[in-house]
Formats: sequence, structure tokens, C-alpha cells
Amino acid sequence: MDALLGPATSGWAGGLRDSPGQGHSTHGGHAARAERDLLLPALHAVQDRIGWISQPALSYICRRLSVPPAEAYGVATFYALLTTRERAPIAVHVCDDIACRLAGAEDLCADLARTHGPAGQAGPDGSTTWLRSPCLGLCDRAPAALFTVAGPEPEKLAVAPIDAVGVSARLAEAAAGRPIDVPELPEAAADRLAAARVSVPQAGQDRLQLLARVGRIDPASLDAYEATGGYTALGRSLEIGPDAVIAEVTASKLVGRGGAAFPTGRKWAAVRAADGSPKYVVCNADESEPGTFKDRVLLEHDPFVVIEAMTIEGFATGAERGFLYLRGEYPLAATRLARAIEQARAGGWLGPDIRGSGFAFEIDLRIGAGAYICGEETALFNSIEGRRGEPRNKPPFPVEVGLFGQPTAVNNVETLANVPLIMAGGGAAYAAIGTEGSTGPKLFCLSGHVARPGTYEVPFGTTLRELLELAGGATGQIRTILLGGAAGVFVGPDVLDTPLTFEGTRAIGATLGSGVVMVFNESADLVGTLRRIAAFFRDESCGQCVPCRVGTVRQEELLARLEAGRPNGSPADELRLLAEIGQAMRDASICGLGQTASSAIESAVRAGIVTA
Ligand SMILES: Cc1cc2nc3c(=O)[nH]c(=O)nc-3n(C[C@H](O)[C@H](O)[C@H](O)COP(=O)(O)O)c2cc1C
Ligand code: SF4
Ligand code: FES
Repeated sequence: MDALLGPATSGWAGGLRDSPGQGHSTHGGHAARAERDLLLPALHAVQDRIGWISQPALSYICRRLSVPPAEAYGVATFYALLTTRERAPIAVHVCDDIACRLAGAEDLCADLARTHGPAGQAGPDGSTTWLRSPCLGLCDRAPAALFTVAGPEPEKLAVAPIDAVGVSARLAEAAAGRPIDVPELPEAAADRLAAARVSVPQAGQDRLQLLARVGRIDPASLDAYEATGGYTALGRSLEIGPDAVIAEVTASKLVGRGGAAFPTGRKWAAVRAADGSPKYVVCNADESEPGTFKDRVLLEHDPFVVIEAMTIEGFATGAERGFLYLRGEYPLAATRLARAIEQARAGGWLGPDIRGSGFAFEIDLRIGAGAYICGEETALFNSIEGRRGEPRNKPPFPVEVGLFGQPTAVNNVETLANVPLIMAGGGAAYAAIGTEGSTGPKLFCLSGHVARPGTYEVPFGTTLRELLELAGGATGQIRTILLGGAAGVFVGPDVLDTPLTFEGTRAIGATLGSGVVMVFNESADLVGTLRRIAAFFRDESCGQCVPCRVGTVRQEELLARLEAGRPNGSPADELRLLAEIGQAMRDASICGLGQTASSAIESAVRAGIVTA
């Protein structure tokens, strides 16, 4: 059975090992229960090897980790990339989410249904299947698909753009036992740089800060990273000490880029001051908000910067261990991060005594399995701990009771990528970029009807119009723009001169969220888009609290009735009900998912973008 579990998955492959905080290496009883955080890696290993999680495999895992079967089953059935039902070993997950819909995803799905049969069923050859998927974080190159090939040497490959012919060709290759053709996983440094330039139209330009290395240096090379200033920030941090590092980050006025805009310096200071040991840092690389792909770009094309920043964060907060939680749909980022962590360790930038400083720090890479809610910080902790990815009540906040119940600093990938800039130039210089309330450079994810979609870097305060011009302008007449993702707000072309800052977007009733700017022209099917957003929240609600579990379903049903022209009562009655559902979810949901699930839909109605 050990062989069945295969080699690939972090943490599990070497058998049971010292667990965080507990330090046991045998199994059985208390020691094995302390291995619970290996549950998700173990489930991944089975899924990767045989394409689904069979009852005997699940039972074996339960015995080895002393996890009650009902709980392990609850975890295995929580994630979209895992399945407990027998499934063909070769699967393609086709994105039918909002940006891909604009690029013809529904036609792609219809073609696949004709040639391969209905979604979820085995195709004519029995070894392949196709499934619909929410956003794969490749919206700039939509439509997108993720291939997963189970076996002794499992493969995962994200491809975009792709059409039905491309999907069929790759499925046929996999079914014939050949590796999938992998132009998106180029191993040559020149190809890696070229790939970066596709995702980042500004690549190679001067004055970029967060994207400075993208398309310019080989992301697989620690030497190249060091030659472009990499690790000087950690070196300086080790010299000036933790309190001075926190003082610089506080002076920079950096706030989190994961959506909540919380001051990073304050978070780090709270973890440093918290009682309790060990402490942890967590990098949130779950990036699953539809329309968001900026973190992927950083992780794929500048992985060392995130590793360096996590190490600085560990030093500042007093943590010796970090977890980087990456969404399961980013196989290229996973490969590059794993390699970069190894290289950093070999280069003395991770390990028991970093560059002779006496500071010890290690990073574990953990891979998610398809659940938007695991981006919520406490759901993420539960996911790492081997539990269902359900958010916890707050307070207590993670700075006091976080991962494994210990003080934890959790930060978004882009937030962390700012830290070496701050340490290099000083907090005050950083704070001079942008505006008083929104400092620093900012990444935006442009997709939909724009001439050059991709990840763009601009200083905070750049207007929406200027950002669109950078991307070559809209294609067609702008009907509406979605700011902030599925949890964001639709705005009209009348607000193009709004400065893109936290305060500027707040003033127009919108949000920056995760930096999504998705453009819809007159040809877009907006009602279909709203229904897809509603379906997204219905599917992704963890179901833990009633307002969100029921409200997301009711919201989706209501939009379906309106679309079909069969309202309950008058259309105006339906809109009143929609507003009531939204209010109930905002008022009574435990976490941000339920609180924002109606935001985009209500904004579209408010702005008259869709009418009953
Ligand atoms: C439903 C939901 C999904 C979230 N997804 C992400 C995510 O994918 N990435 C992220 O960094 N933060 C996400 N967040 C925000 C995190 O809970 C947390 O605020 C963030 O990781 C803190 O890092 P920051 O301060 O650097 O922004 C999400 C929040 C909610 C409510
Ligand atoms: S609001 Fe939704 S996603 Fe959040 S805890 Fe409640 S049911 Fe789960
Ligand atoms: S990759 Fe399809 S919507 Fe993002």
C-alpha cells in the first residue's frame, strides 16, 4: 500500500514524520493523531496515483493516521479535485467561469459533450473524462483547462488558451500513455522568459518593482535571483533585528493585498507580541477568486521573492516554520516553488542556521485541492490541519490562535512580494509611492474584453482609464467592468476616472478586492455572467452556516427564474427578495464568502446593468 501512495506528495512520501509542534515520529495513538496534517497530502497521493479515492485506500489512510473514517470521508468529499467515486484516470477540468465564458467556454463545453459525452462521465475510450471547473487563474489567456493524469508518474498541466481540438489531442496523448505535450512547462530558460512575457505585457520595462524580474531572469535560478538583489533584504533584516524590521514594514503603511487590506506591520507586531510558542507564518497562495491570477504570475516567475519574504516574516514575528498553501490548480507554480525551496535550502537561505545568523526557518509547501473557501485564512488553517476547509469563528484572531492553535501571521503572496522592496529602500521611501491611504505599487489582473489582457503593475492612484489604456484599451464598447472579482462590484464606464486606491474605489461603492479588472463589452451575456457568479457561490459555500448555505441557493434560483422570464410574483418582487437575501447573508454569515456572495449581483441590478 505504501507503494500505492506513490512518491509525489509533500510530507507523505517519506512516511510519517515529526509533526508540527508535537515532534512524534512513530504512529498509533496520540502520536498518530498528531499526524493529522498529513491527511490532505495522503489523499492527494491516492488521487494522483489511481484517479480517485477508493474505500480501501481511505481506510488505510485512516488507520495510518488514526483519523476517524467519517472525518476522513468528510475531508475527501470537501474538495473538488478529489473524488470518492470511481473515475477515469485521465481528466480535464474545463473552466466555464466568467472570463472563460467571454472567450467561448460554453461552446467548448458543448463541443466536448458532443465528442466525449456528458461532463463527468467516462468518454468513449473509458480512460478519459471531462468536467466543468470554476476559474483556473488563467483568465488572461481564456479559455483554460487543467489536465490531471493519474498513474505511477502523475501529471498535471494547465493549458490556456485551448479549444476542443486541443483538449481532445491532449486526452488522446495521455490515453496512449504518452506524456502530455507541455509547451506551458518549458524547461529551457529562454522559453521560461518568453512564457513570462505572455502573462505580463509590461515584462522587461524599467521602473517595475513587483514585476521587475518577470521575463528578465530565469525563475529557476537562485544565482540569477541573487544577482538581481535577491536576499539582500533578508541579509539586512538579519542585521537590524526583528523590531526594526517590523518598524520598517509599519512605516511603509503596507496593507494586505488578499482583500481585507489589513496593515501588515500591525499584524506582524501582534504575532511577535503574542504569548505562545511555536509561532507560524502562512503564505496564502490559494488565489481562487474568479478573475484573479496575479499571485500565480509572481509564484511562477519570481518564486524566490515569496520564499525570501516568508523568511523575513518568520524572523520578524519569531516563527521558525512557514507553510505556503498553494491552490491545487497551479501545477507549474508548485513545481517551481518546490525547486526554489530546495535551492534556497542548499544555498543556506533556509535551514537550522541561516547564513550563520543563528536564525532557523523552514518552509513546507502544501497543495490545496480545489476549494475557494480555503483562501479564507482560518479555513486555510483547517485545510492544512487535515480538516474540512471550514472557516472558524473570529475572535480569536489568527495572530493569537491560528494554525495548530498557535499565533500565526498569514499574508497574501503579493503582500509578501512587497516586503523585500520595503527592506531594500526603507519603509518611508515605499510609503511615498501611491497615495496617503494606499501606498506602494499594485498588481491588477486585466481580462475580458481588453486588447492585451494580463497582469499589470501600476502605482496606487492610477485611474481605471489609465490602466485600461496600458492594456491597449477595451475591445468594443464598454458595457460594464467587474472590479474585485466575483465578490466585487460591477461599475459602469462613467467611473473610468476613479483612482484605483482603497479609498477611491470605496468612494464609488466598489472595492479593489484581489485586483480584478474584468471588462465586458456590449456583446457580453451579462445575465449568464450573473448566474455563473451565483452558481460559483452556491458551489463554494462550505455549508457551515444557514444564511450562506441557503441564501446562495435561493439567489441562484431567483436569477434562473428571472432569466427564464418566470418570476414569482412581479419582477420587482423578485428584486426586493434578492436584496433581502443579500442583506441576510451580509448580516448573519460567519465569513466573507457569505457576506459578499450577493455583492456583484446586487451591484449589477443597482447600476441597471441587468433589469428584471
Ligand atoms: C472567501 C474568502 C476567500 C479568500 N481568498 C483569499 C485568497 O485566495 N488569497 C488571499 O491572500 N486571501 C484570501 N482571502 C483573505 C484572507 O482571509 C486573509 O485576509 C489574507 O490571506 C490575509 O493576508 P493579507 O493581509 O496579506 O491580505 C479570502 C477571504 C475570504 C473571506
Ligand atoms: S459564510 Fe458560507 S462559506 Fe463562510 S462559513 Fe458560512 S457557510 Fe461557510
Ligand atoms: S481561468 Fe477561466 S475564468 Fe479564470
